[in-house]
Amino acid sequence: MVSNWNKEEIICAGKSAEMRSKMADYKKSVVYQIYPKSFYDSNHDGLGDLRGVIEKLDYIGELGVDYIWLTPFFVSPQNDNGYDVEDYYRIDPRYGTMDDLEELIRGADRRGICLMLDMVFNHTSSRHEWFQKALAGDEKYKNYYIFRKGKGGKEAPTNWESKFGGSAWEYVPEMDEFYLHLFDVSQPDLNWDNEEVREEIRKILLFWMEKGVKGFRFDVVNLISKGEFADDMDGDGRKYYTDGPNIHRYLKELNELTFGRDAEIVTVGEMSSTSMENCFQYAGEDSGELSMVFNFHHLKVDFMGDEKWVLVPADFMKLKKILFSWQEGMEEHHAWNAVFWCNHDQPRVVSRFGSEGKYWKESAKMLATVIHGMRGTPYIYQGEELGMTNAGFTHISQYRDVESLNHFRILQEKGLTEGDAYRILQIHSRDNGRTPMQWEEGANGGFTDAVPWIEVNGNCKEINAAQQRMDGDSIFHYYRELVRLRKKYDVISYGSFQALDEENPSVLAYRRTHEGQELVVICNFYEKEMDWKSPVSLQGFQRLLGNYEEREAKDEMKLKPYEAVILWKKAE
Ligand code: GLC
Repeated sequence: MVSNWNKEEIICAGKSAEMRSKMADYKKSVVYQIYPKSFYDSNHDGLGDLRGVIEKLDYIGELGVDYIWLTPFFVSPQNDNGYDVEDYYRIDPRYGTMDDLEELIRGADRRGICLMLDMVFNHTSSRHEWFQKALAGDEKYKNYYIFRKGKGGKEAPTNWESKFGGSAWEYVPEMDEFYLHLFDVSQPDLNWDNEEVREEIRKILLFWMEKGVKGFRFDVVNLISKGEFADDMDGDGRKYYTDGPNIHRYLKELNELTFGRDAEIVTVGEMSSTSMENCFQYAGEDSGELSMVFNFHHLKVDFMGDEKWVLVPADFMKLKKILFSWQEGMEEHHAWNAVFWCNHDQPRVVSRFGSEGKYWKESAKMLATVIHGMRGTPYIYQGEELGMTNAGFTHISQYRDVESLNHFRILQEKGLTEGDAYRILQIHSRDNGRTPMQWEEGANGGFTDAVPWIEVNGNCKEINAAQQRMDGDSIFHYYRELVRLRKKYDVISYGSFQALDEENPSVLAYRRTHEGQELVVICNFYEKEMDWKSPVSLQGFQRLLGNYEEREAKDEMKLKPYEAVILWKKAE
């Protein structure tokens, strides 16, 4: 692998002019997710910002990705780090200005990269002008949200629970009514059944499309269509509003009247507790809804059912089964997956399914291989390409996330000791993925020279971008290579998927085929060496990439700890 690259070569790594012109081909694309608050602080206030992203564009260009998904930077009280939007048309001054954003769009474009914005339309901030007017009694705006009378007075209209803990309803004494908030109390849900709300949302999208934005990620978008408001006798209420009655109609309408008018725009919906059948439509080739979907079922294999705030070892067989069934099911129905391990809501994958110890590097590369060989558009979350690990926080004062802070309290109210509550947070808190990007070994990992809004992981001395960019054998360079391979080999981007050796308790393997080309991906998920016998002949295959030195393609192999290898055979 390359270790001595020159600057010109890396600016648009792996992308020829011809490839750049095919940008809307999301099947060949890779997306890099930036959580601006934790990416790079350019103005010394301890918070990352848009100019920080501009300054790091060469780094992102080196990876060879096609899109940058920026999590919300709109005006917001930041109760949920920007997922509580107060004004969809303005940029929060803490992140920068409209000029900065425009400069970022141009700078990214020069590197063949498009911007994907994160649109939060299930709810607004309670500080949004619409909600403020609703509270002031304006009927028009009251109908923008979901207000209901309580049961027999002050009891919530239904027993639904907020995703961040507690009731999903908040009582407003002046109105003697409750409003619905599926997330924090400061995030009231919008009423999508009101045509005026849908029109406001279309206006917002058209505004950002005019700015040259070429992608949208829609936050928890499968929760926008509420069904019946009834008590849930055996759950937390999600069955009444997940993939709700008008969801496909609303998405089709949005597509038709906004982003569907620009063939270059790529869209991804974040689908909470969704079903595959619904995703066939959300991301179906001809369904006129979205380009692709995130689902989270594979990231619940260390939950107890849907309950996240528990300690349960990850179930590898379940993980495989879910990944494979989504790969096969979506393909069969001509629908497209977003494939990923990490984002700003998830713990770091190397800590979760790999190893922070002796095989840190091998396991991070192995996990990357699993995702990047699959059928779907891969997403890389900032720092994942460096093998960044969980935060390792030991005191509640280090945590910032509203969900973690709520559950730390709720767990203890339920009778857990403080120590147990800490152990659960250390594994599941969203702050694990939110510690600042580790740029270099110096103070605060080079993220800021002020006090960072959330602590930098102490291991920035060992894990940082500066070091890995210079090391051809690093996780960073491995990711670059994975991105390059997707562009070079059609079998990776378009190939059909077939699971291999499904019952194997340690190895995750699959085959991809496309116009005579074949690809076989073999990943040992564990530290223990494994004898592996391929169920398909590997004769004539050559190694494209792996996390150990040369490996010959044989039908029987001894796989090393966390070994991953991608084998390829060209058409006869
Ligand atoms: C999504 C976001 C998450 C946010 C929630 C509410 O799941 O990814 O960060 O808290 O929606 O907007």
